[in-house]
Amino acid sequence: MADGLRVALAGLGTVGAGVVRLLDANADLIARRAGRPIEVVAVSARDRGRDRGVDLSRFAWEDDATRLAAREDVDVVVELVGGSDGPALVLARGALAAGKGVVTANKAMIAHHGLELAREAEAARVPLKFEAAVAGGVPVIKGLREGAAANRIGRVYGILNGTCNFILSKMEAEGRDFAEVLGEAQALGYAEADPSFDIDGVDAAHKLAILASVAFGTRPAFGAVEAHGIRRVIAADIAEAAALGCRVRLVGVAEEADGRLFQRVHPHLVPIDHPLAHVTGSTNAVVAEGDFVGRLFFQGAGAGAGPTASAVVADLIDIARGEFGSAFAMPADALVEPRSADSGERRGRAFLRFAVEDKVGVLAEIAAAMRDAGVSIESLIQRGQAVDAEGAGGVLVTIVTHDGPERCVAAALERLRGSQSLVGQPLWMPILG
Ligand SMILES: NC(=O)c1ccc[n+]([C@@H]2O[C@H](COP(=O)([O-])OP(=O)(O)OC[C@H]3O[C@@H](n4cnc5c(N)ncnc54)[C@H](OP(=O)(O)O)[C@@H]3O)[C@@H](O)[C@H]2O)c1
Repeated sequence: MADGLRVALAGLGTVGAGVVRLLDANADLIARRAGRPIEVVAVSARDRGRDRGVDLSRFAWEDDATRLAAREDVDVVVELVGGSDGPALVLARGALAAGKGVVTANKAMIAHHGLELAREAEAARVPLKFEAAVAGGVPVIKGLREGAAANRIGRVYGILNGTCNFILSKMEAEGRDFAEVLGEAQALGYAEADPSFDIDGVDAAHKLAILASVAFGTRPAFGAVEAHGIRRVIAADIAEAAALGCRVRLVGVAEEADGRLFQRVHPHLVPIDHPLAHVTGSTNAVVAEGDFVGRLFFQGAGAGAGPTASAVVADLIDIARGEFGSAFAMPADALVEPRSADSGERRGRAFLRFAVEDKVGVLAEIAAAMRDAGVSIESLIQRGQAVDAEGAGGVLVTIVTHDGPERCVAAALERLRGSQSLVGQPLWMPILG
């Protein structure tokens, strides 16, 4: 068998320790599939003394992870530290500059610096791979850049954050409100102590920016992703959605039309007959629509030691086989600068929820704002007492609109801004079409 692929591992947390465990458990099979062994030679983390449940004594240790890039005995550096900048970026840049391949699970770094790193990898003729950065164990990058490579992709969208999906699924199953379920998710380790990246849609936006680049051949444009999270979704929204035959899901949507790219992460109403409505718990799922292949559906564990390590090691196997292409499915210079689409021109049905004062004339005021903004109402429902996400009381009014441009809905909400009849902020959610 050929010489082994020599790997340095930076970061020995959930994913890093998982990679060591996987490489140990399936070493023979991996060597047969890759045509040569994959051998960890050096590792780094912050705390050398910490028990990680794996034997690290056989590997060289570097106190400073960035020094792994300079080691003569390493072919590929696996970056599993995290963070868009800092040591992760210093290490990735250093490794590529030293002519070593880089494998990473770091969506923040790839969303922000992926283009620069891809250029450096091409200049050095070494691989840059990041399957684990999007949807954890789900091979969606591989699916798009290889399996669907012949297709023009019209739209790629999906459930990209397991924490949010866990929270929404639990709110749905138990009829509980967001804050309560978030607390439980934190206690169970499904949500970070500072959950803002997850629940405000930033993590999903990182992944969407990467997916969009691979799907559409555009430069990653994280700054152009509109990110909205799930903080303002209340139990009553989920109940109303259910009454309408829908489930609430945080969906990232990237769409290209007429040379313009639309990218948004937003809670959506997903009709029950759509496969995304059946994605529950911390699972991730991605739908890609190709012009020849039709609809592709990728689903699986979006996080966790085993699934994420599975994606990292799959990248290493590709490298060991010598099968690696451009990081974003085409050479970096072939990626075009995306022009952002005007979200106001997007059409669709929408769900609107208002908490209003229980007094005469409120419904007429809302209906008039809709009419004046050109929004056609499909249904309007008023229920009893409710409490909105900001803790304000009021009566709940929900509206479903007919298909129409989003700018009309935005204009209607603008007309109602500051109305004395409204208690708290209205919530708007697109209905996935
Ligand atoms: N967890 C998942 O399920 C998952 C899924 C997909 C992608 N990812 C991505 O994978 C990466 C790693 O995630 P994780 O969950 O494994 O994180 P984690 O459990 O927090 O582990 C991070 C590791 O990096 C080490 N580290 C932190 N700062 C360092 C520094 N300055 N120098 C050297 N080592 C340093 C830590 O050392 P100590 O252990 O000594 O503190 C720890 O071993 C992130 O980019 C994350 O977004 C994670």
